[in-house]
Amino acid sequence: MNVKDQFDLTGRVVVITGGAGLLGVKHAEAVAEMGGIPVLADVDAARAKAAAAKIAVRYGVPAVGLKVDITKTASVQKFRDQVLRRFGRIDILINNAARNPKVEGNGRKAWSRLENYPLPQWELDLAVGLTGALICSQVLGAEMARAGRGVILNVASDLGVIAPDQRIYRRPGLAEEQQMVKPVSYSVVKHGLVGLTKYLATYWAEKGVRANAISPGGVFNEQDRDFVRRLTSLIPLGRMARPDEYKAAVIFLVSDASSYMTGANLIIDGGRSTW
Ligand SMILES: NC(=O)c1ccc[n+]([C@@H]2O[C@H](COP(=O)([O-])OP(=O)(O)OC[C@H]3O[C@@H](n4cnc5c(N)ncnc54)[C@H](O)[C@@H]3O)[C@@H](O)[C@H]2O)c1
Repeated sequence: MNVKDQFDLTGRVVVITGGAGLLGVKHAEAVAEMGGIPVLADVDAARAKAAAAKIAVRYGVPAVGLKVDITKTASVQKFRDQVLRRFGRIDILINNAARNPKVEGNGRKAWSRLENYPLPQWELDLAVGLTGALICSQVLGAEMARAGRGVILNVASDLGVIAPDQRIYRRPGLAEEQQMVKPVSYSVVKHGLVGLTKYLATYWAEKGVRANAISPGGVFNEQDRDFVRRLTSLIPLGRMARPDEYKAAVIFLVSDASSYMTGANLIIDGGRSTW
């Protein structure tokens, strides 16, 4: 097979959880550009449907947006049945949905600090980021294993390989206990996804199902200027990512171009984790 053809996704059905979000839409565009059929799976059905409709027109593929709550097995099973009724197959799963608790606020006791982090918040973060990825892998991955082929891509983060540098979130003039931090749940979810990737890769290798992770660095999205300056000083390439800079890597990881790759974590972070 020639190299170009290895990246081709013509006719492949690609489920993208969190498909209505900032990066989910980009993954969906990339899939559509390569001829695949993106299924934007999101709790926010309206945004998922609107994004899918735009992609369908722009790329001429039957993209769809469907509602699913990935924290509930019954919801994911219902979603799987809808996709199978519509397209008859599920080839690829991108576990992309996550909560990204905002590091803001400056109460007397900053709620995001390790000592204060509310358990309900921790449970919600893990439910979406980790349990959600597990449930989708169970329900949709099992369908791939049954078919004898498939690919799972888990979207981790540079914070799936390094610890957050809490100094970049600091606000001047606040006492230590008032400083907000990147919550512990984000680190645990993202490191956990790398572990889930290795587990799935070995568990289903004989069934023809590959599993890899991608660890993107922060995407520039009009964040506070001082924060961006502090963050980019930690990045050898000296800038945050553009939202479209992960598209080609996602296609590599979900297509036959990566056919001999499983259990790996592709880090694309402007070099941050190298320093
Ligand atoms: N944006 C970045 O800078 C960045 C950097 C590194 C890693 N990531 C990772 O990339 C992924 C996508 O990030 P993003 O910035 O596009 O996030 P986002 O917040 O824009 O999108 C997340 C989507 O997940 C959906 N979602 C939440 N709970 C759900 C549930 N229970 N069931 C189904 N869908 C649910 C939300 O409705 C939302 O559309 C995340 O895993 C994130 O951690 C993002």
